[in-house]
Amino acid sequence: MTGTHQPLNPRIGPITLDAPFCQAGLAGYSDRAMRVVARRRGCPYAVTEALLDTVLLQGGKGLANSIDINDQDHPCAGQVIGSDPDTVAPAARILHQAGYDVIDLNFACPVKKIKNKARGGHMLRDVPRGLAILRAVRDALPHATLTVSLRRAFDDQPDSQHNLFLLCNEIWKLNYAAVRVHARTVEQKYAGHADWNIFHQLRNHYPNRTLIGSGDIFSAADAVRMLRTTPVDIVWIARGAIGNPWIFSQARALLSTNLTSPTDHDLHALIHPPTLHQQRDALAEHFDIAMHIHGESLAGRRMRKMGIKYARFHPNAPDVKQAFINVRSLREWTSVLEQHYHTNAPGVWPPHNAPDEVNSSCEDNITPADNNITPN
Ligand SMILES: Cc1cc2nc3c(=O)[nH]c(=O)nc-3n(C[C@H](O)[C@H](O)[C@H](O)COP(=O)(O)O)c2cc1C
Repeated sequence: MTGTHQPLNPRIGPITLDAPFCQAGLAGYSDRAMRVVARRRGCPYAVTEALLDTVLLQGGKGLANSIDINDQDHPCAGQVIGSDPDTVAPAARILHQAGYDVIDLNFACPVKKIKNKARGGHMLRDVPRGLAILRAVRDALPHATLTVSLRRAFDDQPDSQHNLFLLCNEIWKLNYAAVRVHARTVEQKYAGHADWNIFHQLRNHYPNRTLIGSGDIFSAADAVRMLRTTPVDIVWIARGAIGNPWIFSQARALLSTNLTSPTDHDLHALIHPPTLHQQRDALAEHFDIAMHIHGESLAGRRMRKMGIKYARFHPNAPDVKQAFINVRSLREWTSVLEQHYHTNAPGVWPPHNAPDEVNSSCEDNITPADNNITPN
């Protein structure tokens, strides 16, 4: 246990969180519906999906969908991704003007380099481009609260991790408020284990900077274990939060114990899984907000994969998953809720969660297919 670097109320620049957790940016998932449903269940801070700079600059419907935030959705980071300082900087300004409390630059997604469009995690092997973007965004927004999402390295070649530190040095010089580091390499994408050792190395280099840790958080026990065994200030909850907005209140409860390295077994001894009526309420709320944002047809498509993830807490998970797979409309969604969630009963704990059913990624989802937006 490190114990030395865990402020009870972690800070991101001027923002103080009342718990050290954050709902991740998740392309195709973390729209305002997912964020608000999570906040109502204890999530203190949330991040948008990665928003393409060029889409933000185009305006129109893509822009309206992208900058969707309201007064129930604070503090919130708007995350921008792009390859060119001249487009990322004005796009970041649009997010700032739209009311996001923090602007997060995505240097993490394993997006393939298409022609010249080197985005996301590519910055870890093109440091000059990354530095130019960092400077352009700070110039465009001299007083804004800025953060950066990174990976621990581009790959496992001996020099690769050095680039992370080159970028971080400039990040602190430019007075960015925090870094979020996904402890996998860009080449790993989402497979294999995250190497949490990187957090100790970062803390040794930067003792007083806000560090948000990411990678392999599939339950509240994982989140508290990261906090108690590594020197991160805040835990970024990604795949573990999809279809599981209760993870935040569970993590808060587990944090109030003095368990050094809690396991799922400890979690299960302390807390019950959500009942079927708690699940039904979250599912109904989630669809309702999604429908107001996206319209019924797109909400139906987005919510299908969400429903499949929620279903893992149902005692009859395989049938419920199948039922969600066939949903296309509000009427069909409501009918699944009536059929499978009408009678209250205890929920179940899923087996320790392998990321099997979220087999898409940031890369797959920053496309018009889900967001109804047009990247150029
Ligand atoms: C479907 C999917 C979409 C993602 N979209 C984003 C995104 O838009 N922005 C971002 O910073 N990270 C994104 N990520 C990365 C996650 O936020 C997180 O860093 C990663 O999944 C590692 O955490 P985990 O192992 O606990 O899931 C995405 C990951 C997945 C699986």
